[in-house]
Amino acid sequence: MSDSSKPKLNAEASMKSTPRPDFKTVEASRPAFNTSSKWHFTQTPQPNWKPSDGANDKSKSHFSHKEIDPSAPGRLPVQNYKLLISGIVPRPIGFVSTLSEDGKSTNLAPYSFFNMISHDPPLFVLGFSMGQGKAKDTMVNVLATGECVINMISEDYIEAANYCSINSPEGVSEWALSGLTPVDSTVVKPKRVKEAVFSVEAKLVESREWESKINPGKKTGVLAIVEGVKFWVREDALDESGATIDPAVLKPIGRMGGITYNRVTEGFELPRPEYTEVIKDPEIEKLVKEAEGFKL
Ligand SMILES: Cc1cc2nc3c(=O)[nH]c(=O)nc-3n(C[C@H](O)[C@H](O)[C@H](O)COP(=O)(O)O)c2cc1C
Repeated sequence: MSDSSKPKLNAEASMKSTPRPDFKTVEASRPAFNTSSKWHFTQTPQPNWKPSDGANDKSKSHFSHKEIDPSAPGRLPVQNYKLLISGIVPRPIGFVSTLSEDGKSTNLAPYSFFNMISHDPPLFVLGFSMGQGKAKDTMVNVLATGECVINMISEDYIEAANYCSINSPEGVSEWALSGLTPVDSTVVKPKRVKEAVFSVEAKLVESREWESKINPGKKTGVLAIVEGVKFWVREDALDESGATIDPAVLKPIGRMGGITYNRVTEGFELPRPEYTEVIKDPEIEKLVKEAEGFKL
C-alpha cells in the first residue's frame, strides 16, 4: 500500500461508519406504518400542463448546480456510493435466490443494483459490489451455476427480506434466518420465495468484471446479465387478461439512499403524446414550427 493511499483509506473508514443511534429508539419516535394507506390513483401534479410549459415549480430555478467529478483526486469511492444510492432512486430490488456450485448451500439476498433491460428476450441486470474485495455469495453462485431466481419484494415480507442482507458466512442459509418459504422452481435449481407475488427464474447470459478508477487494479464489482426463463405470478395479482400485475396486490418496495426503503401507495396516469394527434391543434402546430431546427 502506498503512503498516499493510507489517509484515503482512513477517511473512507470514517465516512463508512455512519453514526447509528439505537435504531429501535429512533423508530419508536416515528409514526406507525400506515396500514390505511392503500394503492390509489391521483391526478398528475399539474393536470393543466400544456406543451412548452416546462417544469411545474419554477421557484427553484435560482439554485445553481454543484459539479462533481467522480474520479477527482482525493475523491473517495464511498462518496460516489452515498451520492449514487441516494440520487438514483427509487431502485427496484431483486431478491435473489441461488445455490452453491456443489448444491449444498442455499442463498437468498437483496440486490438493488438491479433492473429489467429488455422484454424480448426478458433480460435483467444485477450489480454485485466487492466490499473489501470479498465476493458476495450470490455473485459466486450465479457465476458458477449460471442460475438464480429473482423475487420481487412486497410490504408483506420486507423485514424478512431485509434480514437476508445479513453478512453471515457462506453455508449459513438466509432462508432459515428469515423464515421465508422455499418453493421448487421448474427450470432452475434454486428455489423461489413463496411469499413473493412475482418471481422470475433466470439463467446467466453474460458477466463482466469492473475495476476501480480511483484505485486502479482493484476489482470492485461484477455485472451479471440474466435471462428470465420462467415467470411466477400470484393468481390474485393478475388482471383478467392475465397480462398485468396489480400494484395494490404487489405492494412493491423500492430502495432509496442509506438504509431507507420506499413503498408505493399512490400513482397517476399520463398518456404518451401521439404526434399525429397533437399536431391537429393549431397551437401545437405553431409550436412544432418553432421546434423545427430549434438550436440551443
Ligand atoms: C435493499 C438492499 C439492497 C442491496 N443491494 C445490493 C447490491 O445491489 N449489490 C450488492 O453488492 N450488495 C447489495 N446489498 C448488500 C447485500 O444484500 C449483502 O451484502 C448480502 O450480505 C449479500 O449476501 P450474499 O453474500 O449471501 O450474496 C443490498 C442490501 C440491501 C438491504
